[in-house]
Amino acid sequence: MKQETGKKRILSGMRPTGRLHLGHLLGALENWVKLQDEYECYYMVANWHALTDHLDTKDYQDNIYYIVRDWLAAGIDPAKSTVFVQSELREHSELYLLLSMLVPVPWLERCTTFKEKVRDMHIGKADISYGLLGYPVLQAADIMMYKANAVPVGEDQLPHLELTREIARRFNYFYGEVFPEPQGLLAPTSKLLGLDGQKKMGKSYDNYISLDETPQETAKKVQGMFTDPARIKLSDPGHPHLCNVFTYCTLFGPKDAPAALRGDCAASRIGCTDCKKRLAGYVEKFLAPIQEKQKHWTRDKVRDILNEGAVKAGKMARATMDEVRQAMKIA
Ligand code: TRP
Ligand code: SF4
Repeated sequence: MKQETGKKRILSGMRPTGRLHLGHLLGALENWVKLQDEYECYYMVANWHALTDHLDTKDYQDNIYYIVRDWLAAGIDPAKSTVFVQSELREHSELYLLLSMLVPVPWLERCTTFKEKVRDMHIGKADISYGLLGYPVLQAADIMMYKANAVPVGEDQLPHLELTREIARRFNYFYGEVFPEPQGLLAPTSKLLGLDGQKKMGKSYDNYISLDETPQETAKKVQGMFTDPARIKLSDPGHPHLCNVFTYCTLFGPKDAPAALRGDCAASRIGCTDCKKRLAGYVEKFLAPIQEKQKHWTRDKVRDILNEGAVKAGKMARATMDEVRQAMKIA
C-alpha cells in the first residue's frame, strides 16, 4: 500500500503485563512520543505475546486499559499515531502462521532472548511452549504487517529485530520483494536502574515507581532506596556519582538540582533522608502532569481510540495480507 504521508513508518509494541513505570517512560515511551513527528507510527499492545509467560488472563483487559491510558497520558497522540491491540487484528495470526513455515527451528532455539527466558522461567524443556519458541515469528508478523522501516526497541529486543530481517529476506527470496528490512531504533536514554540500584527497573524485581504511584507511595519507595554505601553517618562526605539517588535527581529534578546537590552531599551539608525527601518531591512533580492526563483517559475514551486504531491498522493489514496471499498464491 502506498504511504499516504510520505513519511517512513515505524511499529513498536509493549506487552500488557502490568502498570507502566518510570523505566518504560525513559527507556521507550518518551522516544515513542518524539518519533511521532518524524514517522508514521503504529503502536501496538502485544497481548498475544503476553500469553507466552502469563497464561492467567484475568487481568488482561485491565492491563490493556492501563497501558494505553499511560501511553496517551505520556503524550502518544492518536491524531498522529495509530494505537491498537494485536488480538483485534486477526491478520497478525495469519501472517504469523505463514511466516512460521519459513523459519528454521534452530534460528529460534539459538535466539538469546529465548535462551534467557527459559533460564529465567526456571522451566525444563518439557514446559517450553511452542508459542514461546515462536515468539519472534509473531513479532516479525507484527512488524512486517505494516512494512515498518524501523522499530524503536530496547537493546534486549535487538535479536528479535535481526530475526525479523532474516525472515523478511527469506520471504522476499521465495515469493518476491514484498517486505522492507526494518532497522532497530535504540532509545537515547538507556535502561533506568531500579530503586535497588542493582537491576534494570522492572516489575518482576519490585524496584519500580509506576506512573500512577501516589505521592505517599513514591515517598516511601524513595526512602527505601540505597545510597552511597560509604556514607554511614551524616558527617561522612558522600560520593554522589556512586549514588543512585543522585542519578535520579539528575533525571527527575530541575536542571540546577545536580550541581547544588553534588556540593552539598560531598561537603556533608545534606543528609540522605533529606536528600530523598527532595527526590520524592521531584518525582511527584515530574509525574504530576502525566497523572493529570491519566484522569482524562477514562475506559470509554481509551476504547474509542483503540476502535479507531483497529480500523486504521486494519486497512493496512488487509492490504498487506492481500499482497502476501497473492505473492504466495494462496487464496
Ligand atoms: N517483544 C516486545 C517486548 O517484549 C513486544 C513486541 C511485540 C514488539 N511485538 C512487537 C516490539 C513488535 C516491537 C515490535 O517488548
Ligand atoms: Fe546520595 Fe543524596 Fe545521600 Fe548524597 S545525600 S549520598 S546524593 S542520597
